[in-house]
Amino acid sequence: MAERPLLVFRQITKSFGAVRALRGVDLEVRAGEVHALLGENGAGKSTLIKVATGAHAPDSGTIHLAGERLERLDPALARRRGIACIYQQPALFPELSVAENLALRLEPTSAWRRVVWSERRRMAATLLSRIGADIDPEREVRTLSMPEQQLVEIASAMGAGARVVIMDEPTASLTRREQERLFGIVTALRREGVAVIYISHRLEEILTLADRVTVLRDGQTVACHARAEVDEAALIRLMVGREVDQLYPASESAPGAVRLELKGLCCRAAGGRPVSLRVRAGEVYGLAGLVGAGRTELARTIFGLTPADAGEVWIDGSRVSIGSPQAAIAQGVAYVPEDRRRHGVVLELPVGQNISLAAWRRIFPLGWLRGDRERSEAEHFVRALSIKTPDTDAAAANLSGGNQQKVALARWLATRPRVLVLDEPTQGVDVGAKSEIHRLVRRFAAEGMAVLLISSDLPEVLGMSDRIGVMRGGELVAELPQGATAMDVMSAALGQTPSEGAA
Ligand SMILES: Nc1ncnc2c1ncn2[C@@H]1O[C@H](COP(=O)(O)OP(=O)(O)OP(=O)(O)O)[C@@H](O)[C@H]1O
Ligand SMILES: [Mg+2]
Repeated sequence: MAERPLLVFRQITKSFGAVRALRGVDLEVRAGEVHALLGENGAGKSTLIKVATGAHAPDSGTIHLAGERLERLDPALARRRGIACIYQQPALFPELSVAENLALRLEPTSAWRRVVWSERRRMAATLLSRIGADIDPEREVRTLSMPEQQLVEIASAMGAGARVVIMDEPTASLTRREQERLFGIVTALRREGVAVIYISHRLEEILTLADRVTVLRDGQTVACHARAEVDEAALIRLMVGREVDQLYPASESAPGAVRLELKGLCCRAAGGRPVSLRVRAGEVYGLAGLVGAGRTELARTIFGLTPADAGEVWIDGSRVSIGSPQAAIAQGVAYVPEDRRRHGVVLELPVGQNISLAAWRRIFPLGWLRGDRERSEAEHFVRALSIKTPDTDAAAANLSGGNQQKVALARWLATRPRVLVLDEPTQGVDVGAKSEIHRLVRRFAAEGMAVLLISSDLPEVLGMSDRIGVMRGGELVAELPQGATAMDVMSAALGQTPSEGAA
């Protein structure tokens, strides 16, 4: 394509105090292409997007849109010029209908001004159908799922005449079906001549969707390639600057005695069904299943967030009562939740305190604060998980999304629990960090922890687990030994017999 680029960034720099987030980024995006932006956690992707949407002013560098230089971009101006960003958590009014939300967004600036009510509804329907979204414009936004709200955002961007649509990790919490629908919409946007900037840590998504890929490393552009010129290994090398061992670490020792046992455990109030399973010391027990199969609900019950109303939990041969997260922590149970951006880190607190928050009882057995010990513990985890932060005193809010996730993980690992429940531990982290996390989980298991690993990343469950439990409809429907195949897991998750699954 000899087409002139639509949006051009030249040598963009941006520092936050001493942190040089962007040190010279070049990016050229064409109309009608899906341009993937790839880079490790903290490479500068989200910061670049905030520059593009006018949320951050760059320190230096230029931005051109359709040949015209954009100066002093602010969010309103960026929107007027047709640069839209779809966030993971859309900012819509929950009490208003879809049509009302779209009208509010679009009327002040476009032909929507002062249209009659029936007309608004019709226009909303038109916009939604243009992106292939099957949503009734009369529905109140609070009744929509997060992905449906994302669709409303995309419709609103299209209605505002967006020429550039930016998606920053849009699929992080989508089910497979929702993901496929989103891909369909991305393809439709491309067909309409929209430039899509697409950020994701899932390389297979990028290889499927993108026409071109730009790779950032440490705030600089290191490469821009057409899809056909690269494969997964090449992208990883460009991103990380070295080879990443993608093999899963093998278990180092035979599992010991039963550490965690659930006997018909369930919280019916939270929609659970009785689950019985055993995890040995040193064992990684993978929990597979489709999104909505009840894995997170089970994890929340084990951790006392939705205390069980039936069944028993046994740890190291004694029955324990877990009526609250405090009780769970006291019994040596740790839980790294799925939605770490909301529940995992305290944004206002420094990285160091976030890491020692749950561990303070172990770190300060005498009850007073020992700053030096807290610091060395935190520094240990910052190194072990390669958390990108200037130091342990930096506020967690200033870390990139993936690095905040690593802080949440470190916080629970620091408690040295007997039972570690991990819910999607590598979602949103880059490939390098992912393999660090795998190694660390193995090491903690080898030290005697019982690990319950919930993951929708099938290769991860297959590669990390000593045994795999498959859940469906809130129940444990199968237990598979190590060596089970993706097909075995999927057919159990879908409720097919293996022969049906293979067909
Ligand atoms: N407001 C801020 N104050 C201080 N530092 C910041 C701020 N925003 C971002 N940073 C730093 O800038 C760097 C780039 O962060 P950015 O969020 O752009 O990374 P990213 O590529 O989006 O990473 P991820 O894949 O984890 O989302 C990081 O080192 C981050 O800590
Ligand atoms: Mg980011």
